[in-house]
Amino acid sequence: MAKEKPAPAQKTFTLTNDQTGKSVKLPVLDGTIGPPVIDVRKLYEETGHFTFDPSFTATGSCKSRLTYIDGEEGILMHRGYTIEELTKHSSFLEVAYLLLYGDLPTQKEFDAFEHNITYHTMVHEQINYFYRGFRRDAHPMAVMCGVVGGLSAFYHDSLDIWDPKQREISAHRLIAKIPTLAAMTYKYSIGQPFVYPRNDLSFAENFLYMCFALPAEPYKINPVLANAMDKIFILHADHEQNASTSTVRLAGSSQANPFACIASGIASLWGKSHGGANQEVLEMLDEIGSIDRIPEFIKRAKDKNDPFRLMGFGHRVYKNRDPRAEVLKGAADEVLDDLGIDDPMLDIARELERIALQDEYFIERKLFPNVDFYSGIILRAMGFPTSMFTVLFALARTVGWISQWKEMIEEPSLRIGRPRQLYTGPAQRPYVPIAKRK
Ligand code: ACO
Repeated sequence: MAKEKPAPAQKTFTLTNDQTGKSVKLPVLDGTIGPPVIDVRKLYEETGHFTFDPSFTATGSCKSRLTYIDGEEGILMHRGYTIEELTKHSSFLEVAYLLLYGDLPTQKEFDAFEHNITYHTMVHEQINYFYRGFRRDAHPMAVMCGVVGGLSAFYHDSLDIWDPKQREISAHRLIAKIPTLAAMTYKYSIGQPFVYPRNDLSFAENFLYMCFALPAEPYKINPVLANAMDKIFILHADHEQNASTSTVRLAGSSQANPFACIASGIASLWGKSHGGANQEVLEMLDEIGSIDRIPEFIKRAKDKNDPFRLMGFGHRVYKNRDPRAEVLKGAADEVLDDLGIDDPMLDIARELERIALQDEYFIERKLFPNVDFYSGIILRAMGFPTSMFTVLFALARTVGWISQWKEMIEEPSLRIGRPRQLYTGPAQRPYVPIAKRK
């Protein structure tokens, strides 16, 4: 009889307290690829210490099978497929299926999924009245935080997060309705009537149609724009455990409903260090104004006493190249060529990139153009105002957020997220009545 192979020994990491000399062995866990992690879950129990990692730069917050990033090599993969392959061969809806269910769909599975998404694109008519409560000049992200959170007031039949069917319906509703809400947000901001979705169009075509069609005239779909829009959506679909995704997971860990969780992700994405950066890129390019002023802005970016940063440069994880930026650089050329637009911003962007990539400061700090650097130029050429850029990012990222949320809820060991802290406030002190305080 063949002997059973002995189980491989558990890898460990030994941590020694220099004061007491006591050691503790911590388990080391391996993923499929990527660096191993030290499992510190029992650290407090065994040593009385917590770990300290305020911006989570060295902390794995969960196990995930969705997205893999190698920041040093500039690799981004969803479920094992590189972003380059996906943007070349796939479509946003297929990537959405991949993220949500784990594998690429068969034709039959894809047809059913596409049908489900298409037939959930309309929103409850009552939601239209929400919009009227907002000022027309409200930032579209402010409106999106409100209306997406508001969805949980409309779809009570899919809020039981422990029922897999209801989770699936909520996921389909979110993926399908976010474009409708995003387009309504845009139409409201410019004082035009809402355009209802058209189920005969593809996901990207329908979105462009809802944004740019007018009741007074027919709308012609431009396939180059629809293709670029689809690429932009794929490139923003998921990005591992970034700030907004971690926000969605943390909100979801308390068993909040998925619509509320996605609203929390939208709030987190709004910030200019995250999703707000492509708007900032265009504002920066506008401010630079001409190629001869680039050196002045490079100088400012390097000056520690000046808060100015080159927007669209640098990334917390990518330290070599952002593979998404390279795909977009090509797409920017295609879109501007097709529209016959000669945008001086693109020339400034290209020259800024060229100069920065040769500059010691940027080389030393591994600062490269990120996904936001070129996406703004494309979106502006398509006709979107800068204030809508982050909304489009949120639209695409909803797929990643809801897939990450679903993965977390399906994890048997799900517990509410609860980071600890290093308390640096005063130790206990007696209460002094107000009359006696100095
Ligand atoms: N311009 C000039 N200097 C920069 C820039 C920049 N864009 N980014 C980082 N640096 C410098 C910092 O001043 C710091 O220098 P120092 O070591 O001399 O102090 C060094 O590079 C490291 O910077 P950190 O802030 O520690 O890097 P971190 O990883 O925390 O920040 C971030 C990443 C927030 C993206 C940053 O590079 C940045 O602010 N970039 C501009 C905003 C932007 O484009 N955000 C979009 C990110 S992508 C996304 O969310 C989809």
